[in-house]
Amino acid sequence: MLINPDDRPANGVFPVRSALLDVFAPRAAAVLVFLLVFGLLGGWILAGRMLAPLTRITDATRMATNGSLSHRIRLPGREDEFRELADAFDTMLAQIETHVAEQRRFAANASHELRTPLAISKTLLDVARTDPDHVTGDVIDRLSAVNARAVDLTEALLLLSRAEQRSFTREPVDLSLLAEEATETLLPLAEEHGVTIETRGDVAPTSGSPALLLQLTTNLLHNAIVHNLPEQGTVWVGTGVRPGTVVLTVENTGEKLTPELAATLTEPFQRGTERVRTDHAGVGLGLAIVRTITHAHDGTLTITPRTAGGLRVTVELPAVSPHTDR
Ligand SMILES: Nc1ncnc2c1ncn2[C@@H]1O[C@H](COP(=O)(O)OP(=O)(O)OP(=O)(O)O)[C@@H](O)[C@H]1O
Ligand SMILES: [Mg+2]
Repeated sequence: MLINPDDRPANGVFPVRSALLDVFAPRAAAVLVFLLVFGLLGGWILAGRMLAPLTRITDATRMATNGSLSHRIRLPGREDEFRELADAFDTMLAQIETHVAEQRRFAANASHELRTPLAISKTLLDVARTDPDHVTGDVIDRLSAVNARAVDLTEALLLLSRAEQRSFTREPVDLSLLAEEATETLLPLAEEHGVTIETRGDVAPTSGSPALLLQLTTNLLHNAIVHNLPEQGTVWVGTGVRPGTVVLTVENTGEKLTPELAATLTEPFQRGTERVRTDHAGVGLGLAIVRTITHAHDGTLTITPRTAGGLRVTVELPAVSPHTDR
C-alpha cells in the first residue's frame, strides 16, 4: 500500500508500525534471551557429556602417574574413538602392571639368591675368625665354592641385562658352527655325566651376536647334559633351515616333565622338579638367558616335554643368506 507523505502523522511514526514494535520487540527479545540461555546451557551439557570420557582417561593417567597401576578405565558405551582410546590405555596399563610385577619379583629373587652365598661366606668367615687354628682346607674349599656361585650368579645377571638391552652388533653367524663349538667345549662334562651327544647339523645362517648365540647354545647343551638321566643319557643337537628361518634343536632324555612345568622353566630362578641327583645346583637363570637372547634376535623359543622323558628345546631365528651382510 502506498502512503501519501502528506498523510504522515506529526511525530513521524505510523501508529500501526509503532504498535507492532511495541507488541513484538519484548517478545522477540525474550525469545532471543531464551535461545541464548538454552544454547549456552545445552552446549555446556553436551560438551560435558562429550568430554566425560576424556575426564575419566585423565583421572586414570593421574592415578597411574601416582603409582596406582591396578586402576582401569573400563569405559562403557558404544565403540567410538574415546572408547578405543580408553581400551588401548587399559591394555597398556595391564602390560605395564605385569611388567613391573615381573621386575619386582626378579629383583626380590636376585637379591635372595645373592644373599645366600654371601650369608654362607659370612658364617664361614665368622667361624674361622673365632677359631683361626682350626681353619682347614675344607673351610677354604667351601668358601671358594660359595664365592664361585656368587660370581656365576652375578655374571648370569649381567649377561641377562646385556641381552635385554640389545646393545650388540649383528654379524653373520652359522648356528651349526656354534653347536659344534659348544659340543666340543662340553664334551668332558657329558662324559663325566655318562651322556652321549649326537649332532646332526646343516648349515644354518642367521645374523646376530656370535658371543650371545654361543652362550644360548652352550646353556641349552649344558642343561641337556646336567638335567639328563643319572646314567646312559643321550643328547641330540641339530641345526637346519626352514622357509625363512633357521632352527637349533637340543633334545635330551631325562625325567618326565608335564607341559605345565615345562611352560614355567624360562622364568628367572625357576628350577624344575626336586631331583634325586642334585650334583648340579644351578642358579636357575640358564633358560631365562636363552629366552632373552632369542627374543633379542627376533626369534622364538619352544620348550616341549618328550613323551619318553626329557625335553626338546627349539630356537627359531630369522634366516639370512650366508652371502648377505646385514
Ligand atoms: N634339557 C633339560 N631337560 C630337563 N630339564 C631341564 C632341561 N633344561 C632345563 N631343565 C629344568 O629347568 C630348570 C631351569 O633351567 P635353567 O637352565 O634356567 O636353570 P638351571 O639349569 O637350574 O641353573 P643355571 O642357571 O645354572 O642354568 C632346571 O632346574 C631344570 O629342572
Ligand atoms: Mg641351566
